[in-house]
Amino acid sequence: MITLENITKGYLKYKQEYVALQDINLKVDKGEFLCIVGPSGCGKTTLLRMIAGLDFPTSGQIMENETEISGPSRERGYVFQQYSLFPWRNVLDNVAFGLEVQGLADEERYQKARKYLKMVGLSSFEKSSPQELSGGMKQRVAIARCLVNDPQVLLMDEPFSALDVQTRHKLQKELVHIWRKEQKTIIFVTHNVDEAVFLADRVVVLSSAPGTIIKTFNIELDRIRDRTSHEFLNLKKEITRLLDVEP
Ligand SMILES: Nc1ncnc2c1ncn2[C@@H]1O[C@H](COP(=O)(O)OP(=O)(O)OP(=O)(O)O)[C@@H](O)[C@H]1O
Ligand SMILES: [Mg+2]
Repeated sequence: MITLENITKGYLKYKQEYVALQDINLKVDKGEFLCIVGPSGCGKTTLLRMIAGLDFPTSGQIMENETEISGPSRERGYVFQQYSLFPWRNVLDNVAFGLEVQGLADEERYQKARKYLKMVGLSSFEKSSPQELSGGMKQRVAIARCLVNDPQVLLMDEPFSALDVQTRHKLQKELVHIWRKEQKTIIFVTHNVDEAVFLADRVVVLSSAPGTIIKTFNIELDRIRDRTSHEFLNLKKEITRLLDVEP
């Protein structure tokens, strides 16, 4: 349902054309969990921002179903690389933000927001301000804030990268449960191979700049995945090796 055709993205850097991404061809199916891995600076955020409609390719086309993506849409929710809650709003009002923009009345807005806060396990924190939350809790709120708009596609940019391993693993499991329950399409960017193999139906490996697709891996292991299984470790090894030969 999301198609990238011959995407190249250049920026002007120090008055010179800098190619961040080159010849990206990718199809993401409805309901698929796709992970994109690659070294820092290879263009992962750039790619996600273009799918979100926040930036545009220099050449090539990005389509959502039959339509070229021309700007942001409620159908494509974005979870940012950095914590991005509104510090002056409490948790509930952070989650309800998108619905407020849509003009929903208080009652309906809060009812929906509470449903998603419950889903991410934060019902008892609705009156807290973001400053009172841990990093993992903040990211849970960010995910609830995204889900409340009921987007078909979730675009997630390293949402767990600032978390400790235990919290990260916990949120990965929660995300898999949410993805199954809500039947969303997820495009998830990470530089963490373990995370990608744990989450994805398919892992796309990007090279360092200019980012190109080196290889894609279909991950056919049952969920919730066992990180200690041979298959899991072998896939991790293979992808890591591929990234390690990168400069
Ligand atoms: N607005 C911009 N103007 C100029 N150059 C940019 C801009 N945005 C990104 N770039 C450049 O494009 C390249 C890719 O950046 P991007 O943020 O997409 O990388 P990334 O893979 O997300 O990295 P990280 O893993 O560190 O988050 C970098 O060299 C960056 O400097
Ligand atoms: Mg990035």
